[in-house]
Amino acid sequence: MKLTFLGQSCFLIETMGKKLIIDPMILSNPLATKIKIEEIKVDYVLLTHGHYDHVADAEKIAFNNNAFIISNFEIVSWYEEKGLKGHGMNLGGKFQFDFGTLKYVVGVHSSVLPDGTHGGAAGGFVLSNSEACVYFAGDTALTMDMQLIPRTCPNLDMAVLPVGDNFTMGYEDAIIASDFIGCNRIVGCHFDTFPPIKIDHEVVSKAFKDQNKTIILPQIGQEITV
Ligand code: NI
Ligand code: MN
Repeated sequence: MKLTFLGQSCFLIETMGKKLIIDPMILSNPLATKIKIEEIKVDYVLLTHGHYDHVADAEKIAFNNNAFIISNFEIVSWYEEKGLKGHGMNLGGKFQFDFGTLKYVVGVHSSVLPDGTHGGAAGGFVLSNSEACVYFAGDTALTMDMQLIPRTCPNLDMAVLPVGDNFTMGYEDAIIASDFIGCNRIVGCHFDTFPPIKIDHEVVSKAFKDQNKTIILPQIGQEITV
């Protein structure tokens, strides 16, 4: 499985011969001007919740690629009204897709779509297949529910956790989250895009290292092999 960081919480995921994109906000991300969204080729668009910094380019990318939207029921219904195809889920549910099994797990966060439509409950995804098992936390506070994730995936290969603080957990809580999920290989996201979520990369990296954990704070465009 290969991940490519496209800014904020957006990753391109290449696995089992399929391409997925999660939480795309590229055109309005001043840090991601090198990324050309018309060149993005995907089969699926995964959305953790309805906030603008996660769905901004979802409609355009899904239409360009005739791609399937996967999110919670409320968000998928909103895109279906625009003429897109989708697969709605809800918290705690899993489904077998052609790229692997996705479980939509609890995120402790709010959610509203860009036009004010209620976005359902915010969540994250656990993606598992014969290549790897990865947890994408979405926007969330640290929550005891994370302790349930290793029951689904006892050997998580990697976890993508928000570390920017203010709107989500910060890096100190992400270290505790990494204990809860039993995974010491972390990729940070949701940092540096806006002033309130700017982080000191050295401080964050050292804090993880001091706990014998590794965190990648990816550059936009950086590829990560899981
Ligand atoms: Ni959010
Ligand atoms: Mn966000």
